Amino acid sequence: MAEDLFITLGTKSEKYKAIIPQIRALIEGEDDITANLANITAALKEQFNWLWIGFYLVRKDELVLGPFQGPVACTRIRKGRGVCGTSWEKAKTIIVPDVEAFPGHIACSSASKSEIVIPIIRENVVVGVLDVDSSELNQFDEADQYFLEQLLESVQFK
Ligand code: SME
Repeated sequence: MAEDLFITLGTKSEKYKAIIPQIRALIEGEDDITANLANITAALKEQFNWLWIGFYLVRKDELVLGPFQGPVACTRIRKGRGVCGTSWEKAKTIIVPDVEAFPGHIACSSASKSEIVIPIIRENVVVGVLDVDSSELNQFDEADQYFLEQLLESVQFK
């Protein structure tokens, strides 16, 4: 396993294309889900310097905070609540250009301005979500959706 990441300057797509193979190398050969999710958040935070990135995992009828990087966050989110709970309920990625314009947005940090939440789906069931927050408006688009969905598809969730 490489110990240092190669951090790329450039366009968003260039950054994803550089970091995703490194993340795959980092998690291949490790079957512990907590270890892998922790390294995924650390690597993406280092590459993109987002305000917050982390996983919420489905535990019974709630999402519970998993590995993350950034300020402390709320620990439990119910289905249908906030951006994360809505992504879980709809099993769809949600891009929020301005969190204040999203009804029911849960503000874990007042510094968060825009957000993307990607559901992790295994055998047609949402098992968790990846939540990314930026301190600037309009930071996420279809490119983030494409690359983050691709990355998550390759993560073993058992
Ligand atoms: N904003 C999220 C809550 C999680 S924090 O951003 C880390 C939401 O509305 O679901």
